[in-house]
Amino acid sequence: MSPVHLLLLFTAVAAAVPGEILRPRFYRETCPEAEFIVRREMRKAMLKEPRSVASVMRFQFHDCFVNGCDASLLLDDTPNMVGEKLSLSNINSLRSFEVVDDIKEAIEKACPATVSCADIVIMAARDAVALTGGPDWEVKLGRKDSLTASQKDSDDIMPSPRANATSLVDLFRRFNLSAKDMVALSGSHSIGEGRCFSIMFRLYNQSGSGKPDPALEPSFREKLNKLCPLGGDENVTGDLDATPRVFDNQYFKDLVSGRGFLNSDQTLYTSPETRGYVEMFSEDQEEFFRAFVEGMVKMGDLQSGRPGEIRFNCRVVNRKPLNVLLES
Ligand code: HEM
Ligand SMILES: *[C@@H]1O[C@H](CO)[C@@H](O)[C@H](O)[C@H]1NC(C)=O
Ligand SMILES: *[C@@H]1O[C@H](CO)[C@@H](O)[C@H](O)[C@H]1NC(C)=O
Ligand SMILES: *[C@@H]1O[C@H](CO)[C@@H](O)[C@H](O)[C@H]1NC(C)=O
Ligand SMILES: *[C@@H]1O[C@H](CO)[C@@H](O)[C@H](O)[C@H]1NC(C)=O
Repeated sequence: MSPVHLLLLFTAVAAAVPGEILRPRFYRETCPEAEFIVRREMRKAMLKEPRSVASVMRFQFHDCFVNGCDASLLLDDTPNMVGEKLSLSNINSLRSFEVVDDIKEAIEKACPATVSCADIVIMAARDAVALTGGPDWEVKLGRKDSLTASQKDSDDIMPSPRANATSLVDLFRRFNLSAKDMVALSGSHSIGEGRCFSIMFRLYNQSGSGKPDPALEPSFREKLNKLCPLGGDENVTGDLDATPRVFDNQYFKDLVSGRGFLNSDQTLYTSPETRGYVEMFSEDQEEFFRAFVEGMVKMGDLQSGRPGEIRFNCRVVNRKPLNVLLES
């Protein structure tokens, strides 16, 4: 068999793998310092810009819900592929991709071609939570990076900030995540910021009523009106809860007092379907932390079953294998 045929055979076998078996300490032999490096780079990013760790944490949600946790989110557009970065939920919104680039560069130096970008997203999300005062936990690793991305899939799946509790419960159930998981995972909005763009309708024309969302506590509404005036710059951002640099259960306390930032946040308290969980988490931070970790681990298990690779650069798929080049 010629080397080219051997390579062909090998890629065919690799591509047939239906899904990866994820496990803790996956890189113990091949890259023992991987988790240390990610934590170190995340700490650096946080010192440089506190919000950046929240922005990176969000990547896990936007990656895992769209064809599994495969770093499809991180692919830049190419002439042949419109990726996820410009989708409705992501454009002008997702940020701090350069933090993942820095992590990947540091990891490639220590252990070339070993650690997937998909795993980096999962480790970094965990670290964002741990570094801001939230729970710390063991993550399962061993994911592969996708060969493609789809703007359309992201558009079809990712929820709008206008979403109500019923539609959010339904959406998360499609991914085997319960209403409790969904409410706990929304608690990620304990850190970070959102744009005026995401709440203008809520402040001025909720459900086409020409009025603000009645669930908004009046003094909080006034504050948001000042931050986000009609005709103002909708890229201005506001805090998603009263303690946006600390991962805690303040987010749920804010929902109880009508101070949720997004409609999708406040609806969790307004709706009888989910209110009980909001009340429980607002009163018991440990219960929130437990449920949050469970949700993050479940979300991290989502896989596409599509073929993958270990990308060298998280923004682009690797050069085509020799057999493909020779055939084309
Ligand atoms: C339940 C459905 C969810 C909806 C509708 C939603 C929607 C949003 C929106 C609209 C923003 C602000 C974006 C902007 O204005 O530019 C945001 C920010 C954020 N989301 Fe979510 N989200 C949801 C769930 C989640 C989950 C499950 C996570 C992670 C586990 C997450 C993590 C974050 C973080 C950390 C931020 C702040 C990012 C930053 O400061 O850059 N969200 N989300
Ligand atoms: C929730 O949103 C869905 C989809 O937008 C809509 O069909 C439904 O009527 C809404 N439910 C409530 C209770 O407002
Ligand atoms: C949800 O769980 C069912 C039953 O365990 C499984 O067949 C299905 O593939 C899961 N769906 C997802 C999106 O993980
Ligand atoms: C509010 O929304 C409704 C329905 O989407 C629309 O017909 C109306 O023009 C909007 N009003 C304002 C003041 O934007
Ligand atoms: C926000 O800023 C981006 C450029 O960073 C611009 O393209 C976009 O139009 C702005 N959006 C709004 C709603 O002002």
